Amino acid sequence: MSQNFKALVISETSEKKYIRSFEQKNTDDLPAGEVLIRVQYSSLNYKDALSSIGNKGVTRKYPHTPGIDAAGVVIESSVPTFRQGDAVVVTSYDLGMNTAGAFAEYIRVPAAWVLPLPNDLTLLNAMIYGTAGLTAGLCIRALQQQGITPDKGEILVSGATGGVGILSVALLAKLGYTVVALTGKPEASDLLMSIGANRMINRATFEDNSPKPLLKSTYAGAIDTVGGNILASILKSLQYGGAVAACGLVASADLHTSVFPFILRANALVGIDSAECPMPIREAIWQHLASDWRLSDDTLATLHQIITLEQVPEKLDLMLAGKAWGKVVVAI
Ligand SMILES: NC(=O)c1ccc[n+]([C@@H]2O[C@H](COP(=O)([O-])OP(=O)(O)OC[C@H]3O[C@@H](n4cnc5c(N)ncnc54)[C@H](OP(=O)(O)O)[C@@H]3O)[C@@H](O)[C@H]2O)c1
Repeated sequence: MSQNFKALVISETSEKKYIRSFEQKNTDDLPAGEVLIRVQYSSLNYKDALSSIGNKGVTRKYPHTPGIDAAGVVIESSVPTFRQGDAVVVTSYDLGMNTAGAFAEYIRVPAAWVLPLPNDLTLLNAMIYGTAGLTAGLCIRALQQQGITPDKGEILVSGATGGVGILSVALLAKLGYTVVALTGKPEASDLLMSIGANRMINRATFEDNSPKPLLKSTYAGAIDTVGGNILASILKSLQYGGAVAACGLVASADLHTSVFPFILRANALVGIDSAECPMPIREAIWQHLASDWRLSDDTLATLHQIITLEQVPEKLDLMLAGKAWGKVVVAI
């Protein structure tokens, strides 16, 4: 099949500026892969925002179409595992990084990246979760593996109004944890409490700049989406035997800490990667998201907004400025 379609394209100028435009592409232009998918929904992730401004750690070559999340319907498949009309989800791997992504009407990807849409999830619901939901799920799984059960105490979530943060708050609350939301947006207090946060901390008051190696033992665990001094401050504040699942770098990719949280409080720092996460673990997390961890329709409705493909550039700018909130789903 050869089909024209619309895509957001980021182009690099000779002055290393990154220009956004909407272009007509053809499915013949798409990379090789076994499965051609008509994208119905995508969603915004911080990685897409980095790709849109020429971050070479995310995207090496331009022109490029970002979009690491896709939910849609199979149009063509050269493998028996997927058939025309199947509803499917693709998140991360190389999609939207160096493989043309889902801010477009069509993608073509290797079959190994494609997950059948879990039973009981709609394509829209799958993109309300998206990579952010998978990542939040991986963080929760990591805390569980460290023995952090709801009775152990409070769980802190940083970047609480962001995509990964807001889903972490809602999923932890659903699983019975007591959640402390750390946010730079005090005005989002009602929103965060309505999806299950127990109390809020204003980011401006949280960071510790003292030379103290440890602070008051407070949190049983944490999900950190921002890195830098916030992650260092969280590490100083965990209870004995506590753990933090670290997945992000919005504040900083640097981490200046000491060994004291590890050797005096037996704390664990667990790294989370959703991009190359093996398919069996992905499937397990998606099954949880569709069943026992499934958020109520009210919660899902509260924590997302839907935009058009044409609105993606302005929302990516909001994200880069730290002003976006919740999950932003793109109806393609
Ligand atoms: N490891 C993985 O597999 C994986 C997967 C997905 C995402 N990530 C990473 O996780 C992070 C969050 O991704 P996302 O898609 O959820 O992004 P997002 O929606 O843009 O959320 C980021 C949130 O961080 C907070 N924030 C913004 N600027 C900040 C600053 N200077 N200092 C401290 N906090 C700040 C804001 O929340 P508040 O205003 O509420 O504080 C913001 O909403 C990114 O670094 C992303 O690359 C990693």
